[in-house]
Amino acid sequence: MSSYIIKGGNKLEGTVKISGSKNAALPIIAATILAKGSTTLYNVPNIQDTQMMYEIIKILGGTVQKKKNKIIIDTRNIDKYEIPDTLMHKMRSSVIIVGAIVGRYKTATFSYPGGCDIGSRPIDLHLKAFEKLGISINQNYGSITCTAEKIIGNKIDLDFPSVGATENAILASVLAEGKTMITNAAREPEIIDLQDFLNKMGAKVKGAGTDKIEVEGVKKLKEISYNIMPDRIETGTFLCLAAITGGMVKLEKTNPMHITPVINKLEEAGCQIQIQGETISLQAPKKLKAVDIKTMPYPGFPTDMQSIMATIFTIAKGTTIIVENIFENRYKYVQELNKMGAKITVEGKSAIIRGTRKLYGATVKATDLRGGAALVLAGLSAKGTTIIENIEYILRGYENFDRKIRMLGGDIEVTNLI
Ligand code: EPZ
Repeated sequence: MSSYIIKGGNKLEGTVKISGSKNAALPIIAATILAKGSTTLYNVPNIQDTQMMYEIIKILGGTVQKKKNKIIIDTRNIDKYEIPDTLMHKMRSSVIIVGAIVGRYKTATFSYPGGCDIGSRPIDLHLKAFEKLGISINQNYGSITCTAEKIIGNKIDLDFPSVGATENAILASVLAEGKTMITNAAREPEIIDLQDFLNKMGAKVKGAGTDKIEVEGVKKLKEISYNIMPDRIETGTFLCLAAITGGMVKLEKTNPMHITPVINKLEEAGCQIQIQGETISLQAPKKLKAVDIKTMPYPGFPTDMQSIMATIFTIAKGTTIIVENIFENRYKYVQELNKMGAKITVEGKSAIIRGTRKLYGATVKATDLRGGAALVLAGLSAKGTTIIENIEYILRGYENFDRKIRMLGGDIEVTNLI
């Protein structure tokens, strides 16, 4: 297992380029399966989650070539339709590839992705959406097989605006016969990116970004190249890295409109923020002010920023109340922060954070991707040295994370990267 060693106390200052969005890249990589041929993707983040998607595509019979700044995926020769258990369990979001496989080949087999570090992560909404499209679902001993003679467009009402279920419903209906209407759809920007990608291939999808998405089935899709949108959660993470270290950063190649709720909270906490096109700058105040947070589906405050934002308030003036409304187990990082002197108590969906003067270095463990990122913020702000173990979680979702932090003056090193 690998660790970060962080010496706290430096202000993060300077300019950094934001990478492509993990949560846009994963469904778009899956969507390349719908087109018989090769697709070229630019601005794909080089992280463990995208590597795992490439592994699945290769296991199914496709090829993936990594050139300088592009990825070329050829799905012409895919002739297997079963996702290996090991990869399903390593990365639950690989369930997104099922919609694409069954959408093109009318059959797919996979195992329950299983819970992960932030909650049980059920897929009932995905399966209900598939059934509405005429796909039959057979489950035995944890393995699920989806098959259909034909996929027929239909109305799909989602009980909850699930991002993954919305994406899977779109992927399974792009090559269907007739029209599909998805209501109570998730409105995340990554779904707009998926729609733009699919329409460039010749699909007919409209309404992404709203809660009603319409997909008109087409016969086939063509080979294209596409540029993935910037990562809004990495953007929020680097803004918070500057906020907690009293620094000043300029983030380039991002889309500030995607993280308005995060910007609003940081301004309420006393940060000065400037936006200019694809660039966003933040100047931290001497002392942050406590601000309450409630996570909601987009366009509300993003759950992926909950742990990261909570961390900046551990050294703010006042008390912060956080309510996590999306995942049922997204406070595992709290016990690790409290080892560093934070004063956080968790009551069900809420966490109460009493601002303290300072955090202190300690040996802590990453518990999940965003919880791990929160510990990096804490270590960079703390007095003394922090060792963060199990950083594989963090490497899943942040490209060149420690390198970018060093470029901004942060003192962070990696040990025994296997
Ligand atoms: C996506 O996960 C993101 N992952 C998550 O980011 C993000 O936190 C989440 O959306 C919410 O924004 C990717 O895009 C790869 P959901 P997803 O389906 O699709 C419940 C990160 O850190 N639900 O919107 O799995 C579910 O249990 C990751 O980058 C059902 O009940 O999220 C949860 O409580 C973490 N049944 C809620 O909906 C279902 O069939 C939201 O889940 C599906 C979901």
